[in-house]
Amino acid sequence: MLILGIETSCDETAAAVVARDGPARGCILSNVVRSQLAEHRPYGGVVPEIAARAHVECLDTLLGAALSEAGVSLFDLSGVAATAGPGLNSGLVVGLVTGKTLALAADKPFLAINHLEAHALTVGLTDGVPPPYLLLLVSGGHTQTLLVEGVGRYRRIGTTIDDAIGEAFDKTAKLLGLGYPGGPEVERAAQRGDAKRFPLPRPMLGRAEPHFSLAGLKTALRQRAEAIAPLSDKDVADLCAAFEAAVCDIVIDRLSRAMDLSESAFEHGAPRVLTVAGGVAANKSIAAALARLAHARGFALAVPPAALCTDNAAMIAWAGAERLARGLVDGLDFAPKPRWPLDPEAPAAIGAGVKA
Ligand code: KG4
Ligand code: ZN
Repeated sequence: MLILGIETSCDETAAAVVARDGPARGCILSNVVRSQLAEHRPYGGVVPEIAARAHVECLDTLLGAALSEAGVSLFDLSGVAATAGPGLNSGLVVGLVTGKTLALAADKPFLAINHLEAHALTVGLTDGVPPPYLLLLVSGGHTQTLLVEGVGRYRRIGTTIDDAIGEAFDKTAKLLGLGYPGGPEVERAAQRGDAKRFPLPRPMLGRAEPHFSLAGLKTALRQRAEAIAPLSDKDVADLCAAFEAAVCDIVIDRLSRAMDLSESAFEHGAPRVLTVAGGVAANKSIAAALARLAHARGFALAVPPAALCTDNAAMIAWAGAERLARGLVDGLDFAPKPRWPLDPEAPAAIGAGVKA
């Protein structure tokens, strides 16, 4: 099975061809990504209109590159998969219309992919890990713990009631005058800092409900920074170290709670595999903390390589292959879904905003 994948939900334009040779047996034939970071950097965040225009400008070139690098033509494909949500509507439309057009022109099945499902299934492609497993999804837009029971079957355990973790890193960086995106900048500064100088709060720690909250941590950091302004390099490094240490503690505590809850969700024992997806997984302190937790709780840990944790089209193609293998094909009338939770049945977390 050969699938072409298209990703345009946020600030990366991407195209890829993936071969599927049975369940949890995938091979990436090509995977091209064009990041729009340079276009958005002057604004300190993603500007939807700039993103949509940038997708339009380069998507056809990227598709040509993905097909030629894979050595296949449109007519060799088994299907075309494009991200249909969640994400920025204007960007989703670009990829979705392009994918539908190619599927129609080449008379191939079309697959409308949930971007979060693609993140959730990536370990099948990269590590041959089949569901069920526990997933920590930590990106700029999402912070969730999920039970991946099978393709199309997701149970959300915890979610953030305010900011996503990546978003909190980005806002912290902006506040401290560091560059965009903030995650890698905060991580770099934190390596030179003393995490103990500024005691910061760890919201939700020890709470029975498995949700995350980052807003209080962000506010506390701002108050500390304002109290000692103007900030020296050492102050910035110490604040970053304190922030990163607090995030690590929050992630471990919330994930630990998700592990407890997942144990009671399975009659014959919980899956003892932990996987991670999303850009924040690139953070070395968080990754090390996850490895310690997995070891302590007797979980195997599967983390896709960083380039496949962040947004890419290989994961979209793989999710398309997994769906096509199960006959889950979509119509050409499939509309973009800017909001598209993986587990629509999950109750809203108390106090949660729209991102939950
Ligand atoms: O998954 P992703 O590439 O894009 C989506 O949000 O879908 O994640 C991007 C997020 C940004 O908020 C970025 O600051 C964060 O991941 N990030 C990091 C690191 N690298 C990227 N956060 C902490 N430490 C990092 N090294
Ligand atoms: Zn993503």
